[in-house]
Amino acid sequence: MRLFFAIWPPAHQRDELARLARRLAHISRGRATEAANLHLTLAFLGEVDEALLPQLSALGVQLAALPAAPMALTRTGSWSNGIVWAAPEQTPAELLELVGQLNIGLAALGLPVEKRRYTPHLTLARRAHRLLAGHSIEPVPWPLDHLSLVASQLDGAGSRYTILGRWPLTVPTPVAPVRADSP
Ligand code: 2AM
Repeated sequence: MRLFFAIWPPAHQRDELARLARRLAHISRGRATEAANLHLTLAFLGEVDEALLPQLSALGVQLAALPAAPMALTRTGSWSNGIVWAAPEQTPAELLELVGQLNIGLAALGLPVEKRRYTPHLTLARRAHRLLAGHSIEPVPWPLDHLSLVASQLDGAGSRYTILGRWPLTVPTPVAPVRADSP
């Protein structure tokens, strides 16, 4: 099965992102990503033996100990491969740590890992015929609050995604200050 780890947007941002996707797909003459399919890929695993699913779930559980963090998409643009994207201005350190630990876990399972530096992007549209210049947008909050293991099936209409597992990241609890006179 074809697998990847990803983060899905919060439900209340989904429609706004889908509208943005349709608008930029129209301008770039591309195909907008369906609202339900909008996601930020953390790692693409490719074809993986189903027998590895328990280990991949265990990896998800292990990574859920990492901290959740705020993020926002602030820019859009497109690449010459026809992908129209939205991205954060800066990659949060927590996201780099999550992807780094994920890749260590995948390598330990004997899976190939991406050697290139991780550049987070949300694919808003594909097969664009016009290149879009980079643009700032009104920031769209997208908290990094979970990771999902997803199966991808390609059919005539595009990709169909099935969430196989979802693990919430850890919300750091504020540490109460210790008073000097406390016992
Ligand atoms: P993309 O949106 O930039 O195409 C599922 O296919 C997800 O994995 C997509 O978000 C896709 O990114 C990402 N991905 C990364 N490398 C891939 C590859 N070699 N083939 C297909 N998808 C890949």
